Amino acid sequence: MLANHTKWMNFAILQGLRSKGATGKNPPVGCVIVKNDMLLSYGRTGVSGRPHAEEEAINNVSDKKYLLGSLMYVTLEPCAHKNKNGVSCAEQIYKSGIKEVFVSCIDPDNRTNRKGIDFLKKKDIKVHENFMTGEASKLYNGFFSRIFYKKPYISLKIACSLDGKIALKNNKSKWITNELSRSYSHFLRSQNDAIMTSSSTILNDNPRMNCRLNGLERRSPTKIILDRYLKVSSNYKIYDQSIKSDIFLYSVLQKKHHLNENKFVKKIKVDKKLNNEDFFNFIFKDLASKGINNLLIETGSIINTLLLSLNLVDELLIFRSGNIIGNDGLPFVNKLNFLEINQLTNYKISSLKTFEDNILEIRNLTNKDNRCSQV
Ligand SMILES: NC(=O)c1ccc[n+]([C@@H]2O[C@H](COP(=O)([O-])OP(=O)(O)OC[C@H]3O[C@@H](n4cnc5c(N)ncnc54)[C@H](OP(=O)(O)O)[C@@H]3O)[C@@H](O)[C@H]2O)c1
Repeated sequence: MLANHTKWMNFAILQGLRSKGATGKNPPVGCVIVKNDMLLSYGRTGVSGRPHAEEEAINNVSDKKYLLGSLMYVTLEPCAHKNKNGVSCAEQIYKSGIKEVFVSCIDPDNRTNRKGIDFLKKKDIKVHENFMTGEASKLYNGFFSRIFYKKPYISLKIACSLDGKIALKNNKSKWITNELSRSYSHFLRSQNDAIMTSSSTILNDNPRMNCRLNGLERRSPTKIILDRYLKVSSNYKIYDQSIKSDIFLYSVLQKKHHLNENKFVKKIKVDKKLNNEDFFNFIFKDLASKGINNLLIETGSIINTLLLSLNLVDELLIFRSGNIIGNDGLPFVNKLNFLEINQLTNYKISSLKTFEDNILEIRNLTNKDNRCSQV
């Protein structure tokens, strides 16, 4: 029987997406096991990275004899490094009797890089490499960015009017977009490891920056606060710890009594003399070193302008409503002072969604290379 490989890999990708934002510094992986074109089992990376998806999928099959001669679809190369029981995923696949493995992306982690695939091939398991890499790479934009560029994958979220304004002239911005858009943006929070905002946005809006979708509250991202001069007191909702999540506060001032540092709150000092580029590069490098793969940013015009002018934004998430605010409103980006069209940065549409009369445009930087199949 001819198996529908594309269908099964799409299913594996969906499994991986369910883990996105919940695997710590580890990549989210989806895995499906199929026999005679029928689903036998599936798995995804566990919270903070273990168990691995392949291990879970294999363990989910109660009678292991069914695995003999089956096919596995997995979004990332099976690991060659050992788990706490002393076996790697590649070894578990071999021992299970799976005969063919479809792999989307090669793992850049030195402990596995190509070693997992080589192991399977040596054991006469047929491996199809780079299968649907483009589709699966959305799982690894953050992981690959952290490994290769030492910075998280940066997604800038903008909620704006039809004419691109993010607030009225009096700074009121609640709510430019509709409830469905806002729910989806909470879902996006759950898929990111961290969310960043600024002192100015906190002082104006008092946001909580967590995920408030039923059942996904614990998927709230780590909060990153830019508050150079410690203007935000602990009374603001962003410091509310009813759901414990890490908070990293970046400032140029350090005051011992400003905020109690504890298990969840960490204060990081940034050198006051850094220029804007070095300031953000320092923060992004620091976040990458803390294992943050995907960073969502929700800030106003000033920070948006800095990040866009420095070419630091990998992805734009633009929620656009049908309202018109006018030129007295706050634009999502300020002056960039370009004089030539060919100098403009292009963000290419990768996906469009509608939420009643609101639109979400997801746009990615066009000149970034896709490393998922090249490692
Ligand atoms: N609709 C939306 O998508 C959306 C999202 C977010 C915010 N907003 C709206 O945007 C408004 C705030 O926008 P905004 O442009 O005033 O603020 P912003 O861009 O959110 O933040 C600007 C602040 O960031 C801090 N900052 C940290 N590092 C900096 C650096 N290297 N250079 C410059 N500033 C740095 C500065 O405060 P310190 O000097 O205190 O560090 C500065 O005032 C609010 O009204 C809010 O409602 C809308």
